[in-house]
Amino acid sequence: MSRIAYVNGQYVPNAEASVNINDRGYVFADGIYEVIAVTKRQLVDPEWHMQRLWRSLAELQIPEPMSDPAMRAVMKQVIRRNRVRNGFIYMQITRGVAQVRDHAFSTEMRPSIVMTARNTKAVVTDEMSDGVKVVSIPDIRWKRCDIKSISLLPNILGKQIAKEAGAYEAWMVDEEGFVTEGTSSNAWIVTKDGELVTRPTDHAILRGITRTSIIALAEKAGLTIIERAFTIEEAKAAKEAFVTSTTSLVKPVTELDGDIIGNGQPGSVTEKLFALYAAYNDDIGKSA
Ligand code: PDD
Repeated sequence: MSRIAYVNGQYVPNAEASVNINDRGYVFADGIYEVIAVTKRQLVDPEWHMQRLWRSLAELQIPEPMSDPAMRAVMKQVIRRNRVRNGFIYMQITRGVAQVRDHAFSTEMRPSIVMTARNTKAVVTDEMSDGVKVVSIPDIRWKRCDIKSISLLPNILGKQIAKEAGAYEAWMVDEEGFVTEGTSSNAWIVTKDGELVTRPTDHAILRGITRTSIIALAEKAGLTIIERAFTIEEAKAAKEAFVTSTTSLVKPVTELDGDIIGNGQPGSVTEKLFALYAAYNDDIGKSA
């Protein structure tokens, strides 16, 4: 079955889907995106994703391409037309097409919108993965990482460093020596006292939706969550570490810059959070 993309009002086969070369997304990376998980045909946390999407647009003064209900209708169609049972929706909105390349923009422009979807083989929450390796790199990004911009050069270069080092993710470190986040995930540690530590959501990181869900689930389970920055040294000495994101879910980190974290195996707190998140997703799937 060929995949179907939504491009500016039309549903077209992926292979034929294209955008204008004068689109500011192509010329300047002038746009934003969202990735939403689908479990048993249901969107996971659509309210929070939509809230973040509207916020990203507003922060960049990109007009809303359509109403919230219209957007959700397209999302439903994209899931249906691609027969997505478990998988992901990707949506991207750019400032639109400008015939002349000019850094400054008109606030009257019509934004471009693209949506694609793909199936993943298994239910994403079937089983927690084995522990993964992380390497640290300097955070060379701009000062508005809270906006989910499609401009991802530092992130892709960072992920490539991780890949070439045989690691799953790179944790970026700010100028004061504190971890900001992963190149495509939020970073967490569990202290010797069993407290969960993750960086507060200032402008230095993306407010991950999975992060938000995990905080809510952990609070409900009676765990202590401390939102503060931590260093690589503290992470190396932590009992456990893990990352969260829409595509990674809750993934245990067992090695950091070549040093083993804890006993080198996924920890019990990480396992518990994964189980809670899996059950939460299961409930979403049942709500069909
Ligand atoms: N990445 N931090 C960064 C820099 C990210 O790119 C992401 C998500 C996250 C986690 O956010 P969430 O829990 O809402 O997925 C944190 C997406 C999945 C991506 O780029 O593919």
